[in-house]
Formats: sequence, structure tokens, C-alpha cells
Amino acid sequence: MKYITLLGSTGSIGCNVLNIVKNDLKFFKIIALVARKNISLIIKQCLFFKPKYVCMINKKSAKILKDYLHSINSKIIVLSGIENACNVSILSNINMVISAMSGTAGLLPTFSALKAGKRILLASKEILVICGKIFMQELKDNKVQLLPLDSEHSSIFQSLPIKLQKNLGKKNLRDFNISKIIITGSGGPFRKIKDSNLNYITPEQAYNHPSWKMGKKISVDSATMMNKGFEYIEARYLFNANEKQIQLLIHPQSIVHSVIYYDNGHISAQLSYPDMKIYIYYAMYYPNLSNSQMQLLDLCSLNKLSFEKINFNKYPCLKLAIEAINTSQSSVIILNAANEVAVYAFINKIIKFTDIIIINKLVLDKLYFLEPKDIQEVIYIYKTTKKFTKRIILTKFNK
Ligand SMILES: NC(=O)c1ccc[n+]([C@@H]2O[C@H](COP(=O)([O-])OP(=O)(O)OC[C@H]3O[C@@H](n4cnc5c(N)ncnc54)[C@H](OP(=O)(O)O)[C@@H]3O)[C@@H](O)[C@H]2O)c1
Repeated sequence: MKYITLLGSTGSIGCNVLNIVKNDLKFFKIIALVARKNISLIIKQCLFFKPKYVCMINKKSAKILKDYLHSINSKIIVLSGIENACNVSILSNINMVISAMSGTAGLLPTFSALKAGKRILLASKEILVICGKIFMQELKDNKVQLLPLDSEHSSIFQSLPIKLQKNLGKKNLRDFNISKIIITGSGGPFRKIKDSNLNYITPEQAYNHPSWKMGKKISVDSATMMNKGFEYIEARYLFNANEKQIQLLIHPQSIVHSVIYYDNGHISAQLSYPDMKIYIYYAMYYPNLSNSQMQLLDLCSLNKLSFEKINFNKYPCLKLAIEAINTSQSSVIILNAANEVAVYAFINKIIKFTDIIIINKLVLDKLYFLEPKDIQEVIYIYKTTKKFTKRIILTKFNK
């Protein structure tokens, strides 16, 4: 039986997780739900799943929720703030923490779960992006089983030898004669749009991803391909891979998610329709197979599968992400923080789509930090960069 704390229950991943739980209440039990401020949805989730705890990061929302649950004599304990999100991630009666808060919001609770030795299902790629080295070290020290939820990383994980699946971070690709891994990306919604027209892109157009239905932040990151850059960084840490061992290709149909090449010429690829549920099912039941009854991939219905090399001039954010990890961990933290602020400024219609890359470059040029030794130093770099980026946007970009 899996006893779960779900971080980010009101999000797109969180809702998919809860749909799976709903269909197998004999195998899964929700002990704690964590969200930020979506009251109407969390009330529905509380009424159905009856967790022991619910934690709203936003204190006002927690108060409203508490009053409501009190008024209907519910026994659910309502908590608030990030500290309590950490507390419900280390409860002695849970054995699975699903990390799906947007951006880096879930950093501290996820680290708490890691230190407490809980099995972690990780969707929030930004956590691995900003402190991959420290995260993977903790993973080794605490003998935690990590299961990636990001489709590309899950697809790679699924094709790996079991010994490597069980020893992520400890073993490396060479130990298993893997010469390289290819990660694919659709190219986003603006693959065919002329660069000169990108100035006029609206957030609504950016949310309209050709293959995947996702939250707003990740959809904008997919449109700039920063998301693919983050996935590249995530894969480097997760699979202990060097620069040459991970390659990226454009694959507009989003059917082949990853390809693994072995030294002896053997190749294994993972194919599926683009649907996050496949990967969430896989991780939630691992190492057993789920009875997901997902639609089977009909090979005859696929007209063609095409692959292209990436034109980095078209995707400067992706280029920046690859350069950042080849420079230092602090460059990656700066880029992630600057990008987060810029993307939300775009979502809030304060800056243009094309300003995102300009801001990211500018902040990376201006800031420099020594390599972080622990998570507090990671947070310091992240917060300082966010403040700096907000100031730049306010002074130089505000229309
Ligand atoms: N969606 C996908 O298909 C997909 C695929 C791969 C990886 N991921 C990764 O999974 C994570 C979640 O993505 P998503 O698409 O599910 O996001 P989403 O739909 O935007 O949901 C985000 C969740 O995080 C909570 N949240 C947002 N800001 C927060 C903050 N500042 N502090 C605490 N909680 C906060 C939200 O709570 P409220 O709703 O209550 O505000 C919500 O529960 C992201 O890191 C994303 O990169 C997503």
C-alpha cells in the first residue's frame, strides 16, 4: 500500500496523480495534500480523498479552508506555510512523496523527504536543475529510490537496466556500456513561426502546445525551449552523464521520447502518445506494472516520424541552458531564477515574449557567485537573482 504526500495537488500533474489514486483506492491512500491557494479545487480534493492533513502555502487561503472545513465538522487538519509542507513530507506513516509544485517552490519539502528516506516521484524539474549535485549526493547518502515523472526522463529510466534504475546517481552510463542518450522535443508551438513575428506572441498562444497539455509556466518554457534546456540539465544529473552523452533532437510528432545507444550498436527507444498519465502510472506502481488501460500506440496510424537537428539560433534559451551547465552550477541557478521571473512577467503581460531571452542573458552577464556548497547557498543565489531580475524588469522593461 502506498501512503502519499502530494506536493502541488491542484496543478496539472497533481490532478493526474489524484485521478490515478481515485481508480485504485485499495493501493493508494492520500495522507497529505499541499497546494498554494486554489481553494475551490482543494475543497473538492479534501472532500473526496479525506487526507489527514492539508497544507496551503498561502496563509490566507489556509484560513479560509480551515473555516470551511470546520463549518462542516471535517476532521482534516489544516496547516499553512512551507515549513508545514516540509513537516507533512516526512511523516512516519508515508512512504511516497510526489513533488509537483511549480518552479522551485517544492525545493525544501522535497529535500526534507529525501533526507527522511521517502520514495520520491519528481515532476518539479527545477529542483534538480538548481541543485542537481547536492540532490544526487543526498539521494546516494539516504538510499532513496527516485522516479522521474518528466516524460523524457521517465522514458529513459524505463529503458535502463534495472541495476542502473536502482542506483541512480551512484552508477554511470559507462558502467552499462551506454554510449549516448537522445532526448527529443517537439520544437514547441512556434517552430514554424518567423523570428520577426515572435515579438507579438501572446501568453495564450504560448500555452497552446502542439503535443502536451500543461501548466502555464512550463508551457511558456516549452515555447522558448528553455524547458528542453532544463530537461537536458536534469538528465545530466539524473543519469550521471557528461556533455557528450546527452544529445537533443527535434521530433515534431512527440512519439519517440528518448533513444539509448549502447557501445555494441544495440539501440532502445521508448515510444508512446504524448500523455503524462503514462509516466505517472509507471512511477506510481514501480516496480510493478500498472493496470492503466491507456490507449495502445497504433503504429499504423502514424504517418511519419521525423527528426531534425536543433537550430540553436532559433532557440537561444536552449543554447543558454546548455552553456550554463557547462559553466557552473551557479550559472544554472542564476538562469533558472532569472527565467522564472521573466516568464511570470510575460504571463502577466508586463514584458514581450522576446524579452525573456534578453533578460536571461542580461542577468547571466551581470551576476556572478561562487559554487554553492549546500542548499542554503543555492537558495541565497536563487533569491538574490530573483530580486535583481525583478529590479531590471521594473526599471528597463516595464511598458
Ligand atoms: N504539466 C506537465 O505536463 C509537466 C510535465 C513534466 C514536468 N512538469 C513539472 O511539474 C511541475 C508542476 O507542473 P504543473 O504543470 O502541474 O504546474 P501547475 O499546473 O501550474 O500547478 C502547480 C502546482 O504548484 C502549486 N504552486 C504554484 N506556485 C506555488 C508556490 N509559489 N508555492 C507553492 N505551491 C505553488 C499550485 O498551487 P495552486 O494551484 O493552489 O496555486 C499547483 O498545485 C513543474 O515543475 C513542471 O515543470 C509538468
